[in-house]
Amino acid sequence: MKKLEEYVRSIPDFPEPGIIFRDVTSILQDADGLQLAIDSIQEKIKDVDVDVIAGTESRGFIFGVPVAYNLHKPFVPIRKKGKLPCETISQDYDLEYGSATIEMHKDSIKPGQKVVLIDDLIATGGTIEAAAKMVERLGGEVVKIVFLMELAGLKGRERLKDYDVESVICYEGK
Ligand code: PRP
Ligand code: MG
Repeated sequence: MKKLEEYVRSIPDFPEPGIIFRDVTSILQDADGLQLAIDSIQEKIKDVDVDVIAGTESRGFIFGVPVAYNLHKPFVPIRKKGKLPCETISQDYDLEYGSATIEMHKDSIKPGQKVVLIDDLIATGGTIEAAAKMVERLGGEVVKIVFLMELAGLKGRERLKDYDVESVICYEGK
């Protein structure tokens, strides 16, 4: 059986020189790769007491929903600004150039709920840090954060030192 790493297509110098882009589409378009990815993420939370799975738009949805479905837990989408129709809270975070904003519905997490955050990738950690802060502002407890892939060279984990963070595949570089 192939290892998950073997399903990841790596594209050098995309989107800019010096960056190796780790492509999830090559995992998704293979039935075994997709199943292995979901199973591997789920394995990381098998002993975690969780009420809600939350994922960040858009690639976090791909991996978060199947895990929520398998565990029979609700899924909360954390969306890019302006997409959610009801009352929201928002959180800004820095990008390499400029900033971005993500939002959640105010009623999506109840105070005291235990939340697992799922995303495909941690680079700088900015996206998931913002997501975690928002969950906490709603009274939720972030009990675990799981990534399919980690770019350890960008040291995103240092921003998340207050959380229990795991990644399925860890790349040393950027
Ligand atoms: C990518 C990726 C993570 C985030 C990681 O999402 O899917 O969510 O960047 O980067 P960070 O750790 O530096 O925050 P992107 O914002 O490109 O959007 P997408 O998921 O819609 O493709
Ligand atoms: Mg993303």
